[in-house]
Amino acid sequence: MKTYRKNANDRSNAYKVVIPAAGLGTRFLPATKAIPKELLPIVDTPALQYIVEEAVDAGLGEVLVIVGRGKEAIIDHFDRSPELEAVLEAKGDAGRLEAVLRSAELADVHYIRQGAPRGLGHAVACARPYVGGETFAVMLGDDLIDARDPLLDPMLEVQQKLGGCVVALMEVPQDQVSMYGCAAIEPAGDIAVANPEATSGVVRITDLVEKPAAQDAPSNLAIIGRYVLSPEIFDALDRTPPGRGDEVQLTDAMKLLAAEGHPVHGVVFTGRRYDTGDRGDYLRAVVRLAAERPDLGPSFVEWLEEFLADFKQGAVIKS
Ligand code: UTP
Repeated sequence: MKTYRKNANDRSNAYKVVIPAAGLGTRFLPATKAIPKELLPIVDTPALQYIVEEAVDAGLGEVLVIVGRGKEAIIDHFDRSPELEAVLEAKGDAGRLEAVLRSAELADVHYIRQGAPRGLGHAVACARPYVGGETFAVMLGDDLIDARDPLLDPMLEVQQKLGGCVVALMEVPQDQVSMYGCAAIEPAGDIAVANPEATSGVVRITDLVEKPAAQDAPSNLAIIGRYVLSPEIFDALDRTPPGRGDEVQLTDAMKLLAAEGHPVHGVVFTGRRYDTGDRGDYLRAVVRLAAERPDLGPSFVEWLEEFLADFKQGAVIKS
């Protein structure tokens, strides 16, 4: 796996990663009343662990998670658990012991609290003392990119070639653009990137609109949860008043940078992605990843086929 360092072979110079995970997760209530939505399990692994694994796969092992009230379980998940480890060791359960240790040893994870959930832009602004004057990556804590379709690599490559900010874009049906930040674009020239099988090119972003009505959307290219941001974003966030939903929107700060002539590019992603904060997408992610697991998949798929056949006929399904 190619890794992205600002200076080759110096891990301390890899891009830092910021993962905002301080939102209220209202779309998933009541489950998220006491459990952070970022820890909802995809089969047996919390969504957030997949995201940290994705960062590590791209060579980025230093992570700041933005947490809020009631999100302490996130800190526990990426920490050691001596009692649990002792029990598993005594039982000789090496497989589960390895799984428990893995989340604690995966990356160098730091935390900062966002005092109140005042929006994604505000959450990113909380990372300023940690990031300093460096370019950094932002990965949303509820947006899962399938490990088979790496997206951070091409984004980091584009940032190294073109500078400025780089966001991930994905084509969505016109009736769904109002759920996303949406980009007005123009061609960026022929820029080759890593993993062309999961991307369909690079565009220059001229404007951004947060959650536009379908008829006002400048395109059907929606911003999804991966960003590579230059440190100018922090001053832009300072100058960004609360927008939609009375929250400070990251989209509005990037719009400001684009309007001021700062390079903002988009990598168009065509791979597999799951918004685990949305109940339908969450269910699709669980079924898909369970079906594809070598340990659980074969018997689960067999059950699923029988279930669907019975379900379509309106039969009572007992097991
Ligand atoms: P979302 O808008 O999907 O999260 O933000 P939310 O507000 O928790 O979700 P709903 O709409 O109420 O269900 C995307 C990511 O940004 C984080 C969230 O935790 C999520 O991972 N976020 C959002 C923050 O860290 N702080 C905020 O103020 C808002």
